[in-house]
Amino acid sequence: MNVCVIGTGYVGLIATAVFADWGNNVVGVDIDKEKIDMIKQGKMPIYEPGLAEVVEKNVKEGRLTFTTNIGDGIRDAEIVFICVGTPQDDTGAADLSYVWGAAEEIGKNLNGYKIIVTKSTVPVGTNEKVAMIVKDNLKKDIPFDVASNPEFLKEGSSVEDMRHPDRTILGSNSQKAIDTLKQLYAHLNTPVVECNLRTAEMIKYASNAFLATKISFINEIAQICERAGADVSVVADGMGLDKRIGRAFLYPSIGYGGSCFPKDVAALYRTSTDQAYDFKLLRGVMEVNERQKEYYLDNIVGELGKNLDGKVIACLGLSFKANTDDVRKSVALTVIQRLRGLGAALRVYDPKGTDNSKDHLGDANIYYASDSYDAVEGADALCILTEWKEFQELDFGKVKELMKGNYVFDGRNLLDINTIQDLGFTYFAIGRPTNGTKKISSKFTRSVLLS
Ligand code: UGA
Repeated sequence: MNVCVIGTGYVGLIATAVFADWGNNVVGVDIDKEKIDMIKQGKMPIYEPGLAEVVEKNVKEGRLTFTTNIGDGIRDAEIVFICVGTPQDDTGAADLSYVWGAAEEIGKNLNGYKIIVTKSTVPVGTNEKVAMIVKDNLKKDIPFDVASNPEFLKEGSSVEDMRHPDRTILGSNSQKAIDTLKQLYAHLNTPVVECNLRTAEMIKYASNAFLATKISFINEIAQICERAGADVSVVADGMGLDKRIGRAFLYPSIGYGGSCFPKDVAALYRTSTDQAYDFKLLRGVMEVNERQKEYYLDNIVGELGKNLDGKVIACLGLSFKANTDDVRKSVALTVIQRLRGLGAALRVYDPKGTDNSKDHLGDANIYYASDSYDAVEGADALCILTEWKEFQELDFGKVKELMKGNYVFDGRNLLDINTIQDLGFTYFAIGRPTNGTKKISSKFTRSVLLS
């Protein structure tokens, strides 16, 4: 099939590569010339395992091309995917200006029947407006259909996620559009949900909001475990064995971040208030997520004091999660900025996210280390902020020798409690019984219970 993909961000670039790899002729379009030039030279604008190889292979085999000209991009396409960004605006709602811009350009350049499909995460009702904008911009009366086909890939495993999705959601008021899209995905042996546009749009938001709810739920359970002397990791293992619950997304943390959950949860909440409904549970999910960061910082301040002048803190992890260089809405960066604000000197390291972090953090009071051992040198405390596997595999005996102090604040429950404590560290985890005494402002603190 001939496919055009508008937008070469995470979703768009992966979609171009994987659609082409399935044997389709694909044109990727982006208004950003620098980005398109970079991709044409085989340099990926993002770090994503396996992506560069799939792009290179399909460009070489002639199925994948890139352009900045939307007219050229859509000319021969039967299906045009809109994969542009939908960032959060000042009110918490999704900023849809890029989607409207793409729809306008498609309308102006439409040269025959096409199916226009939105993959970007867009609020309920967006695709109906896309259809109106395309229609308003047509130079002559040309038929087209609109469909919603939300994407569920995760950064860090996006190529594999797109190749092996759990489900395909196809929302459209046109059976012809749904049948054509079914052909595109025909070789995937996964369930297809056929529905109307609004239902498809809602499935995406409901899915992301539910996953964020799981995270905030386990973060709350972690708080109770901490006070009650239970171990949240084992609690999550025990819960996760129930097939109705599942183990995924029950990893306590310093809060969820990234370019999707914070924005999508806020946008769904905004949709609910627009519909005159107060989505109380979702409000709680957001509040818990904010509190989780505070709670992590409280533990550090509880030990090192509110004035961190003269203290050196090593931070391992800058990206919003492991296996990505993406630092957008990364809680790690929030924590680092807050510690710097209290006077600490930071020594930071991330396997992939350092360059992107420099734009956000600058240089003041921050040393960008060349590896984890370089980061911990002379540090009073070590904060683990992202769950990169290589941090788990460090020689902590060596880390102990290099550090000045012995505090470890593990924001991802990444380390083995016994190994770390046996080495003489004072270890703080999230919702696990460790030798770090948390100064929790409840009369049922663990230390009270144990005394
Ligand atoms: C998320 C969804 O998982 C994808 O299905 C969706 O397609 C994507 O958003 C999107 O809308 O584009 P992503 O943002 O790449 O994917 O990252 P996740 O793996 O979902 O992690 C989000 C955040 O939650 C990260 O900060 C991560 O560290 C945190 N997290 C995740 C936890 O704190 N605990 C967990 O158990 C899982």
